[in-house]
Amino acid sequence: MKNIVILISGRGSNMQTIVQKCKAEKWDARISAVISNRADAAGLQFAQEQGIPTAVVSHKGYPDRESYDQSLMAVIDSYRPDVVVLAGFMRILTAGFVEHYMGRLLNIHPSLLPNFRGLHTHQQAIDAGVRIHGATVHFVTPELDGGPIIAQAVVPVMPDDDEDTLADRVLEQEHRIYPRVVKWAVDGLVSMDDDGQAVLAPEVVGGLEFVLVGGGL
Ligand code: GRF
Repeated sequence: MKNIVILISGRGSNMQTIVQKCKAEKWDARISAVISNRADAAGLQFAQEQGIPTAVVSHKGYPDRESYDQSLMAVIDSYRPDVVVLAGFMRILTAGFVEHYMGRLLNIHPSLLPNFRGLHTHQQAIDAGVRIHGATVHFVTPELDGGPIIAQAVVPVMPDDDEDTLADRVLEQEHRIYPRVVKWAVDGLVSMDDDGQAVLAPEVVGGLEFVLVGGGL
């Protein structure tokens, strides 16, 4: 059975859907721990109610990112993770951290990468006047929001959208694609090759159309 460790900083709705799908679909995996850098992350309570071990590794009091990331790695590694899932973990990670988990470190970003990296992605999309927007699940590399893309979901941008309405529409799709990709990682159906590309197994590629088209278009 594979070990999944999920990192959050707040609400944790993506984490919740992954926990629920893991249980409902009887994945060959367990959520070994949910770890937050913030003690007040709302998602921690959900994890505790599910009987999942939780840990808080506060970033406060560390002199630099390297020393914080070393502490965080020690806690993560105590759960022997096969897959490490960033689910709204609002920290920029050091190259040392990313390299340690390369190929088993996943993130979801609320835009159609490579568009709109960084924060405020929904406002960026509205300001740019794009007609489609969405979410991307990717392997994490040292380049911020720049790792190889595994799956994307698309939503329309409506004329009367604001940041919040668009975020809600995208979040619905995040909850569809992220658990699916984590399951692929658990089953060894997605990997990162030596050239830094995401490689999908044939049975997964067959399912891509659904993932790509989702979202009411
Ligand atoms: C999501 O929009 C995710 O794409 C981004 O941060 C948000 C986290 O939401 N990285 P939640 O904590 O999973 O509800």
